[in-house]
Amino acid sequence: MLKKVIGGLAVLFILIQFIRPNQTNPATDAQVDFRTVTNPPEEIKGLLKVACYDCHSNETVYPWYSQIAPVSWWLSSHIREGREHLNFSTYGLLPADDQAKIMEEISEVIQENEMPLDSYTWPHPKAKLSSAQKNALIQWAGNQGGNPANGPEEKEKEED
Ligand code: HEC
Repeated sequence: MLKKVIGGLAVLFILIQFIRPNQTNPATDAQVDFRTVTNPPEEIKGLLKVACYDCHSNETVYPWYSQIAPVSWWLSSHIREGREHLNFSTYGLLPADDQAKIMEEISEVIQENEMPLDSYTWPHPKAKLSSAQKNALIQWAGNQGGNPANGPEEKEKEED
């Protein structure tokens, strides 16, 4: 009985390998990339690349285990969702309002330890941000108009 179950699972595992999500990166244009448009200090560029770009850009680096179902399905859905919410590769194409909103959100998700996702920092220890690195990112995004306390939305309210 147990042998049959294990045999069945092994066959199932092999069969699901044929369902492969699309893991090709869309083309990128450096002119509209977040780093070109906002030109942050090298430290900030590096932190964003190592901690955010795998899910929030068209420059995803796929590790070997990303080829194996069902992990491949799960990673691909994170990347698709991540890009839908924020794609650093096409930041320059957004209207100024949306760009400012993104700065605010970056600051927020880091302050609240929501990003990078824990499931990502576990296999990518370099993406685990120290408090100094978090502060550098929060402060930089804040200075770009992303400070929730005095961002564009608050200013509009004051003018009313
Ligand atoms: C493992 C993939 C992954 C990594 C790495 C990652 N994110 Fe995300 N991010 C997501 C997903 C999935 C969502 C959408 C669902 C959610 O909000 O949890 C998201 C949502 C967001 C949002 C939108 C939140 C909102 O309220 O709409 C922002 C902003 C963001 N991420 C910023 C970052 C920043 C900055 C980093 C790096 C410090 C980062 N993310 C790293 C997957 C990731």
